[in-house]
Amino acid sequence: MTDPLARLEQLEQQAVLGGGQARIDKQHEAGKLTARERIAALLDPGSFVELDRFVTHRCADFGMQDQKILGDGVVTGHGTVDGRPVCVFAQDFTVFGGSLSGAYAAKICKVMDLAMKIGCPVVGLNDSGGARIQEGVESLAGYADIFTRNVLASGVVPQISAILGPCAGGAVYSPAITDFILMAEGTSYMFITGPEVIKTVTHEEVTKEALGGAKSHAAKSGVAHFAEADELSTLARIRELLAFMPGNNAEDPPSRPTADPIDRADEALDGLVPLDPNKPYDMKALITGVVDEGRFVEVHKDYAKNIICGFARVGGRSVGIVANQPKHLAGCLDIDASVKAARFVRFCDCFNIPLVTFVDVPGFLPGTTQEFGGIIKHGAKLLYAFAEATVPKVTVITRKAYGGAYDVMASKHIRADMNFAFPAAEIAVMGPEGAVNIIHRGALDKIADEGERAAARARFVEEYKDNFANPYKAASLGYVDEIIRPRETRAALARSLRLLANKRQSNPPRKHGNIPL
Ligand code: HXC
Repeated sequence: MTDPLARLEQLEQQAVLGGGQARIDKQHEAGKLTARERIAALLDPGSFVELDRFVTHRCADFGMQDQKILGDGVVTGHGTVDGRPVCVFAQDFTVFGGSLSGAYAAKICKVMDLAMKIGCPVVGLNDSGGARIQEGVESLAGYADIFTRNVLASGVVPQISAILGPCAGGAVYSPAITDFILMAEGTSYMFITGPEVIKTVTHEEVTKEALGGAKSHAAKSGVAHFAEADELSTLARIRELLAFMPGNNAEDPPSRPTADPIDRADEALDGLVPLDPNKPYDMKALITGVVDEGRFVEVHKDYAKNIICGFARVGGRSVGIVANQPKHLAGCLDIDASVKAARFVRFCDCFNIPLVTFVDVPGFLPGTTQEFGGIIKHGAKLLYAFAEATVPKVTVITRKAYGGAYDVMASKHIRADMNFAFPAAEIAVMGPEGAVNIIHRGALDKIADEGERAAARARFVEEYKDNFANPYKAASLGYVDEIIRPRETRAALARSLRLLANKRQSNPPRKHGNIPL
């Protein structure tokens, strides 16, 4: 009789090899890590506990009964990141191309159920040829079981997906429902239909990389929130992201002690925003100038660059930052920027991460592309997201806050808690030139001499600027709580976030709202 300990040892060794050494070598040759190597890089050293190592598939067609591999192509379990629990699954491309069987799906569902029970994030590492073709509809059912769990876990525990190989067809919808998608450049791709099908149907010629590679999804489609240079930096980024988030929606995000004084005044910030409202500047300089140690983790950095979203800490507390970027499209809101920021705001609100909003917005981007593309419903998403958010909301108007975009960008009227403005802020229905053209058109039309008309227009513009293009009208109405010097921003944010730490606000009871999708 075999020694039981020796048998266990032998089975464990067999399981760890997945599809075998030759396929592991092939995986490495393709510039990819194995599922277990990825988990080891993601989690704290030695913390991984594997579950269901001996599960095998149940398929008896196509000779599959003779091809059972321990673990069946997905490694699942739990471990820690910075000492906090995380559930993880890693698809193992060395086993049937990482394709998903019924048993494999059940393993993923089980570890997701565990995460929901204990309230910890789920990280999925994707590298798969899709549905296990030999299993047919059982595989499709397995995907749907995972999708359902993704949906039910949404807003309860953070879900993060890394794409580290193929992820195609309906299989993309599990990552798509999760909170963040990260892709490794050069080795990962995602698409609904690949280049061959596209060529047949639409006659377009496109490479796999151009269609669904990391850069395309990070810059063009916005499907990926992060494109990282390689797998190790992708996994390191997940660790970094998790550090900003609580384990679940009932917890507060972890805070991290900082040596950066909360009242640090950066005088350089006083000169950052140009007085000329048409001159661009880099809003990121303000963000990095005010957050702890200047550390800002930007989400969707290459997509809709006219709005900036990302995580940072102020006084050790996690914050989600949303900011117009005057360097791109003058910081106006368009479809992509609205959807990008709306999703980020909702993530922060789900997980009790306070929102800090920096506003310099001339309005919504005009044009038929935007109107036909539905800027009305997409812009409404951002308005909806900011208005429904009950986390602490602190807003700083740095320069322009015009028109409807003023309302949308976490204004007092949609329940922001603390609204600050810099002294040169302009809070108005529109810019001075546009306003004068409308309200003084009659008077200007009556002036025949061109020079006199120009002089009159300049006088009207100055008058408008003095009366309306400043923060004092809004401040007199209580829409702005305080006018601050730019150098005082960090102190104002830190004190507001401390004050609001125990904010409690709830929305009316309902099944769920109906965000304009
Ligand atoms: C079963 C699969 C498989 C699959 C790959 N393999 N995909 N086995 N079901 N879906 C096996 C291969 O037969 C091969 O086995 C091994 O995995 C490695 O695959 P290779 O083709 O050698 O690898 P590579 O050249 O890197 O190509 C990877 C690939 C290709 C691009 C993913 O394998 C491929 O196109 N696979 C089929 C993809 C597909 O059509 N999937 C179904 C999509 S529909 P051996 O033993 O030869 O090494 C879908 C629907 C999901 O997923 C719906 C959810 C709602």
